[in-house]
Amino acid sequence: MAEIVIVDSKRSAGELVAASVRRLIEAKADTVLGLATGSTPLPVYAALAESFRRNPLDVSGVRGFALDEYVGLARGHFESYREVISREVIQPLGLTPNRIHVPNGAAETLQGAGADYERSIEAAGGVDLQLLGIGRTGHLGFNEPGSSFASLTRVKTLAPASRADNARFFATPEEVPRHCITQGLGTIRRARHLVLLAFGAEKASAIAAAVEGPVTASQPGSAIQLHEHVTVVLDEEAAAELANLDFYRYSWANKPAWQGI
Ligand code: GLP
Repeated sequence: MAEIVIVDSKRSAGELVAASVRRLIEAKADTVLGLATGSTPLPVYAALAESFRRNPLDVSGVRGFALDEYVGLARGHFESYREVISREVIQPLGLTPNRIHVPNGAAETLQGAGADYERSIEAAGGVDLQLLGIGRTGHLGFNEPGSSFASLTRVKTLAPASRADNARFFATPEEVPRHCITQGLGTIRRARHLVLLAFGAEKASAIAAAVEGPVTASQPGSAIQLHEHVTVVLDEEAAAELANLDFYRYSWANKPAWQGI
C-alpha cells in the first residue's frame, strides 16, 4: 500500500519531501531525480532551494530526468518544459544543466526521441526518487486514461481536459500543443521511490481513484498501487474523498521516525 501523508499546507508538504530528497543526495552525490512540472511540485523545489541556502550542499553531481515535454514548441519557448525545468528547478537549486534531461519534443527527431530518453535513464542507473503530480483526468506525466501500465517514453495526444487545464500558461487555448512526449507508466514504475503530491479539492477524486480505486488503465494514477515504495502527500482538500482517511492518519502518527518516507 502506498503511504498516505496528510499535511496542513503546501509548505509542510514541500519541507517533508525536500528533507527526503536532501537525505538522498547526502547519501549519494549522483542521485537521479525524476522531475515533475506543473504547480504541484513547486513547494518541494522552494523548500529544497531554502534548505541549500541555509545549509549548503554540493549538488553538482545530481542528475535529473523530467517526466514530459510538449511537442513542437519552438526551442526556448517560455512554456516548454525544458525552459520550465531550467527556471523552476535547475537555476534555484543550482543543479548542473547538462546533467538534467528533458524529453526532446522537436518535431524533426521525434521518432527516436522516446527510445533515446529510455536509454539515457537506463544509462544513469534509473531514477532514485520520482516526483509526481496528478492531472484532473488522473494522468501521471501526460499518460492520459487508457495508457498502458507497461508504456515507455513516447508521443501521446493530450486529452482536451488537460489542454484546457494547461491553457492558463498560454496566451490563448489554441496555443496549447496537441501532442506531448511523456515517460510511460512503465517508465515511472521503474523509479525506486514514487512521491505523488496533490493539493486542492479539484484533485480529490483523481487521488481517491489512484489510491483506493481499482487498478485500471482508465485511471493512470492507479498504477501507483503496483509499486512497492510510494508516498502520497496531500493537503486536507485533496485527501477529502479517501475512504480510509482515519487509518492513514493513524499509521502516519504511529510511524517510527527512523523510517523516513
Ligand atoms: C501537467 C503535467 C503533469 C502534472 C499535471 C498536474 O500537465 N504534465 O506532470 O502533474 O499536469 O499539473 P498541476 O500540478 O499544475 O496541477
